[in-house]
Amino acid sequence: MRGIVYDGSETRLVDGLELCDPGPRDVIVDIAAAGLCHSDLSYMSGIYPVPSPGVCGHEGAGVVSAVGEAVTNVRVGDHVVIATLSACGMCEACGDGRPTACRATLGRSRTPFTTADGEQIHMFAATSAFAEKTIVADIQCVRIPKDVPLTSAALIGCGVVTGVGAVMNRARVQRGETSIVFGVGGVGLNVIQALRIAGSPTIIAVDTVLEKEDLARQFGATHFIDGGAEDLVAQVGAIAPHSSRADRGWFNSGGVDWAFDCVAHPDVTWNALECLDWNGSVVVVGVASQTAEFKGLYSRLTQVERGIMGCRYGSISPHRDIPRIIEMYRAGDLLLDELVSATHPVEDWEIARDELESGKVARGVITFG
Ligand SMILES: NC(=O)c1ccc[n+]([C@@H]2O[C@H](COP(=O)([O-])OP(=O)(O)OC[C@H]3O[C@@H](n4cnc5c(N)ncnc54)[C@H](O)[C@@H]3O)[C@@H](O)[C@H]2O)c1
Ligand SMILES: [Zn+2]
Ligand SMILES: [Zn+2]
Repeated sequence: MRGIVYDGSETRLVDGLELCDPGPRDVIVDIAAAGLCHSDLSYMSGIYPVPSPGVCGHEGAGVVSAVGEAVTNVRVGDHVVIATLSACGMCEACGDGRPTACRATLGRSRTPFTTADGEQIHMFAATSAFAEKTIVADIQCVRIPKDVPLTSAALIGCGVVTGVGAVMNRARVQRGETSIVFGVGGVGLNVIQALRIAGSPTIIAVDTVLEKEDLARQFGATHFIDGGAEDLVAQVGAIAPHSSRADRGWFNSGGVDWAFDCVAHPDVTWNALECLDWNGSVVVVGVASQTAEFKGLYSRLTQVERGIMGCRYGSISPHRDIPRIIEMYRAGDLLLDELVSATHPVEDWEIARDELESGKVARGVITFG
């Protein structure tokens, strides 16, 4: 079978891959579609300290084609979204409904793929959705209704849960709270639509690619600012006037209640902090290299009770949150089909990569079959 393999320096479509047989709690999924997330580009450019060679892709949906003898939650023929969290299901974090804090979900690597000449190939993000078939743990499979197009459902596997979960689980944005979102990509668009659903009356989208304005507004942004503008913070101050709670002063108070950094660049994180009102917080969703640093002023934090928090995979609990996302989609509140900018058969995956690098798409989807 075919799969997209990053070998530590280059990424290629490889034919002749073999997949191991399922263990007792394993599920084989025939991938129908998989979205290309920026984290795949980061893996392909070597900035993640995770093993290679590996089969890329971590945002996939497909049809179950085999199950291990102890699997009870899915059957052959079921349509599933694959969650990247290969959680143990038994630790304190799992028991508490926080599998993004489960130790088993970070740093483990499995080599279920083999090339025609016998080389063992790792998984990426416990998912490896850029292959005709992959093998995942039963806990990673969330069954979905068969009438949800798999090209759209695939995006739930990362971009949707990451963006929606950042707003609903990590920040827990309340109706009436104002917001700004840096980076209008597959993740940022989902932050924007979750803010709309949560009732944020002011949602400022920021991107350096100005063509993103229409998409941002379609998903719910009320304003759009050029990410390259030197007076970005002043523009935010004009849209979200200084709080009546305090003078601007040396704390730089005034602005929005929530800032979502879906880029992870030091200038962006700093601007995000500068755009906050008293009591506001920055949620860092973007992933930078292991050594990237950002600097900020203590004065922006303490007296004005601001915070900076990271958010992994929308802090989701997949079996609770993915069905909720499907419900919001069915109710017409959550845009899913509109996230698919283009579909490309796997042999054209490089077109999808170039489109993502251009910054102009919501999501490109790679199809198999
Ligand atoms: N925390 C998580 O669990 C998690 C999950 C998925 C993705 N991510 C990360 O989130 C980030 C976004 O992923 P994506 O798939 O949406 O990427 P994307 O490439 O689709 O979108 C990124 C957007 O940011 C814009 N941008 C770049 N520099 C900017 C700047 N200085 N100011 C404003 N906008 C800027 C780009 O033009 C693009 O529209 C990546 O870092 C990715 O690795 C994190
Ligand atoms: Zn656990
Ligand atoms: Zn992702």
